[in-house]
This record gives sequence, C-alpha cells and structure tokens, in this order.
Amino acid sequence: MNLKDCHNVEDFRKLAKKKLPSPIFHYIDGGSDDEITLKRNSESFNSCDLVPNILTDVSDVDLSTTVLGQKIDFPLFLAATAMHRLYHHHGEKATARAAEKMGTMFGISTMATTSIEEIGKLTNAPKLFQLYIHKDRGLTDNLIERCRNAGFNSMCLTVDTVVAGNRERDHRTGFSTPPRLTLGSLLSFALHPRWTFNHFLGEKFLLSNLVHVTEKGSSIDKSVIDYINEQFDPSMNWKDAEYCVKKWNGPFALKGVMSVEDAKKAIDIGCTAIMISNHGGRQLDGSRAPFDQLSEIVDAVGDKIEVILDGGIKRGTHVLKALALGAKACSFGKGYLFALGAAGQQGVESVLQKMKAEIKRDMILMGCKSVKDLNRSKIRFRKD
Ligand SMILES: Cc1cc2nc3c(=O)[nH]c(=O)nc-3n(C[C@H](O)[C@H](O)[C@H](O)COP(=O)(O)O)c2cc1C
Repeated sequence: MNLKDCHNVEDFRKLAKKKLPSPIFHYIDGGSDDEITLKRNSESFNSCDLVPNILTDVSDVDLSTTVLGQKIDFPLFLAATAMHRLYHHHGEKATARAAEKMGTMFGISTMATTSIEEIGKLTNAPKLFQLYIHKDRGLTDNLIERCRNAGFNSMCLTVDTVVAGNRERDHRTGFSTPPRLTLGSLLSFALHPRWTFNHFLGEKFLLSNLVHVTEKGSSIDKSVIDYINEQFDPSMNWKDAEYCVKKWNGPFALKGVMSVEDAKKAIDIGCTAIMISNHGGRQLDGSRAPFDQLSEIVDAVGDKIEVILDGGIKRGTHVLKALALGAKACSFGKGYLFALGAAGQQGVESVLQKMKAEIKRDMILMGCKSVKDLNRSKIRFRKD
C-alpha cells in the first residue's frame, strides 16, 4: 500500500498503521476506556441524512468561510494536536506547510515539537495557538506574548484535559515520550526501520514551547499522560479562562465545550467562538458526541458566538451535516495525523485535497452554491 492507494481517511489510517511503530500508531488511533465515545463520534453523523435540492446552477461553488477572523478556502481546518515529531520527522513544519498550500488554518498545540517562533517564521497561513493552563501560571503569559510576537491570529484554550484520559492502548503498547527502545517496543521499532532511523537521527525530540520554562518540557520522563497529570492545573476555572481571553485580546475560542450552560458562560467571558469537542474521544469515555450535541448548542447560542465542531470527521458529508446544523467550520485531528504519519507534508496535502474535493462534490450534489446555503432545511434526522 502506498500514498497513491489512499482515497479517503480510512486508507490513510491503514497506511499510517503500516508505516508507524505500533505505540505511535495507537497513540493517534486510540481513545479512552472502552472507546465508546471514540466510535460514537463518527457514527453520530449517520443518524441523519442530507436532503438535496436540484436544478440550482452549481457551476460555480464557493467553499470558503471565515472562522476566528480568518478566511479559509474550505470549511475544514487542522485541529491542534500534540507532538507531530512523533508521527513524522519533519513534525509541525510539514503540517504547517501543507495547511498553507491548501489554504486552510493550522492549530498548533502547547505540546508541539516545533516552537511558536519557528511556525511564525515558516508560514503566513492563518495560525491558531492552543493553550493549556499549567500550574506554573507564568507560562500562560509567556505563551500568549510569544504568540502575539510571532503573528498568530487566534487562540483557543482547551478545557477538557484537566487530567489525562485513561488511554489503555498506550499502557499495552508501552507508549512513551520521547519514544524509548524498551524490550517490549524493540520489535515494533525494528520492523519500522525508516521511521526509527529518521526519528533517532533527526532533530532532537523537544516540547519546544515549554523547554525554556520547565525542565520537564525538554523530555518527559514516562509518558505524556504523566506530564499532563503533573503539570496541568486542575484548579483552572472560569476566571482563569476570562484572564486568557482578556490577555490575548483577539479572536479566542474555548475548546471542549459540550453543554449549553457552558456555551453561555463562554459568551459572558468574551469568547469569539466555542469548539464543541470531546478531544476526539480521548478524555471522558461515555460523553456525548459533539455532533449529537450540536443542534442544542446552536439553538441556544448560535446567533451570538461562532460554533466550531470537531470529533470523528472522516468525510466531506460529515462537514456538510455539521454546517447544515449551524457550525461555522469543522476541524479534524486523527484524519490528518494518519496522513502525516503515512507520508509527511505530502500526506497532509493529499488528505486535505481529498477532503476539499469531497466537500466540493457534496455541495454540488446538494445543490448548494456556498456554505451559507447549508441550513436545517437540508437535513433530516431518522426516526428509528
Ligand atoms: C494524537 C492526538 C493528539 C492531540 N493533542 C491535542 C492537544 O495537544 N491539544 C488539544 O487541545 N487537543 C488535542 N487533540 C484533540 C484534537 O485537537 C481534536 O479535538 C480531536 O482530534 C478531534 O477528533 P478527531 O481526531 O476524531 O478528528 C489531540 C488529538 C489526537 C488524535
């Protein structure tokens, strides 16, 4: 199997499985506990159907949208995800270049392996920084200031990771960061010599945004899970979120909002957007899928705040359904990380091209000239 054999997200997943040592693949692919929420995230899109209109002259279709103050060429962007250097030796640089080439936004994590400054220099594409609040509160100010100086356009604060989810696949595979050659993982690394060679002989694995402030940032002792549990601040509350909104003083989203009550509070503290998300099913297993929760939240606050959705997106029609229910844009995580693991920048470009082409074809088949034409009249929930 090769890049040319990848026609959809599931194909990229298969290729990533082939190319990556198993602890790395399962770190991307896995969810928490019984992975019920992980599965439901994608399945939820099948509980409704699209209703097309005909004879609408769709010779010219505009897929663009504006989200967090940035115009993007199509309504899907790259969610912020940690440690790209694990999946490909070019790390976040590969992802950022692919996003720029494809005209979409790229989210960079606090836990990135490329620094805010490097990304700032590398790309003029819309850049979103994803903030985690650490016990060391000086770090929050430090990250916000650095993003401002590096020309980032927007920021989100992730609020669903107060402790790390229970990702049992990582225990079984012996996943560690940085990856270590242990007796258990040796075979898997030996079976993937290209990845192993590039990883261990390439640039050093560093959590580049944290390295100046915390020694832990340069090398995590056991796993990313231990890092989260030791360093993230469980006392984080609405006042802290409001502090970040004010300090950034630009387009700001809360990431991980799942209830109407919290969506209303996000408006009260001055957020521009909410990201309805359950962290891709990696945190609270048994929590509701973002798509299942979308209508309720849009009905309550959709006219007052931008709504962004992530979780389980694998197809263009998933994006269309979310937009029809009132989301401004969607993002995906695993979908592009599989492509990064499968083929670096070329892989990410390829999956974005395919998703863009799907969205365009689906819009044409729906009789929609622009994303604004996607509304509730275009969707029906099944009664069974
Ligand atoms: C490997 C991996 C790492 C992630 N790292 C982060 C992170 O550092 N910060 C964050 O807010 N979300 C993180 N996420 C969650 C994504 O931002 C996003 O919410 C999720 O991937 C969406 O679901 P999907 O993977 O089904 O598309 C991560 C997801 C994955 C798969």
